[in-house]
Amino acid sequence: MSAARGVPPSLAESLPRDISVAAHEIGPLEKLVEEARQLGFSLPAALESAIDKRQREYLAGRISAGYALKRLLGPATSEGEIVADDDDVPRWPEGVVGSISHGAGFGFAAVAAADRYRGLGVDVERVVSPEQAGRLRARVLNDREMSLRQGSAGGLTEAEMFTLAFSAKESAYKALFPLYRQVLGFSDVELECRDGVAGTDHSGRLRLRATLDREAGVHTDLVGWYAIACDSGGVEGAAACRLWTVALDGLAVDLASSDGIISVK
Ligand SMILES: CC(C)(COP(=O)(O)OP(=O)(O)OC[C@H]1O[C@@H](n2cnc3c(N)ncnc32)[C@H](O)[C@@H]1OP(=O)(O)O)[C@@H](O)C(=O)NCCC(=O)NCCS
Repeated sequence: MSAARGVPPSLAESLPRDISVAAHEIGPLEKLVEEARQLGFSLPAALESAIDKRQREYLAGRISAGYALKRLLGPATSEGEIVADDDDVPRWPEGVVGSISHGAGFGFAAVAAADRYRGLGVDVERVVSPEQAGRLRARVLNDREMSLRQGSAGGLTEAEMFTLAFSAKESAYKALFPLYRQVLGFSDVELECRDGVAGTDHSGRLRLRATLDREAGVHTDLVGWYAIACDSGGVEGAAACRLWTVALDGLAVDLASSDGIISVK
């Protein structure tokens, strides 16, 4: 496949090769409308009276999906509009699973063949401030999950670890909801393991477990990938850091791996 448009290389290069990802900046509305037109779709009637922000986010997400589909299915692919179902879940072309996110100035999408993977979820978030992380921490992650911030190469800050758990759980939810149509809360999805790539903790792999029925003990395991990418020169010269996650349901995961490293077969 050709290069993954707009996605941090540290994320794109670590994903299985048969997952296609793309991202697109949430730019001015006129530019997004033109780019969408070239990909064969336009704003749905239901969003014609939506606020500018919603229209731009929708278009940047769908444009990302359009490019990700072209990478997966071939450059001649023109799937037109990816409409949403009654639960807001995108309806992908036959034989495709995928997910869309928009946040922190970007649309982001991933797609893959449905005969390879059951479910795929993505999320992009701005890394929150330490104050926000402190305020919201108890709602999103427990002490065991926070302890995953200690890494082999310096670890993550509490704000980074909070944002990572938040984003990974949102990605897992988006991978699972289309399959089970079940609403899950943050405590229903547990981040079990984080494995930073050698030399940095700012990208790596994750393992998650989602509890679908607590009483019956029904759960499903997911693998995930993350990358934190910062650009300088944001507001008042401060670095703007974004956290990107992908979660996958349906990969064989070696949970018995003795070294604690997440192993993806
Ligand atoms: C669905 C949800 C996760 C979306 O997250 P978000 O941060 O608000 O928004 P994002 O930009 O990342 O993603 C939005 C996109 O997700 C997709 N989406 C919406 N609902 C979805 C669902 N139930 N399942 C899968 N994808 C969904 C859509 O493509 C949407 O974009 P669009 O409306 O432009 O098509 C969130 O709105 C939600 O319903 N949360 C409740 C459950 C939850 O968060 N539990 C805690 C984690 S387990």
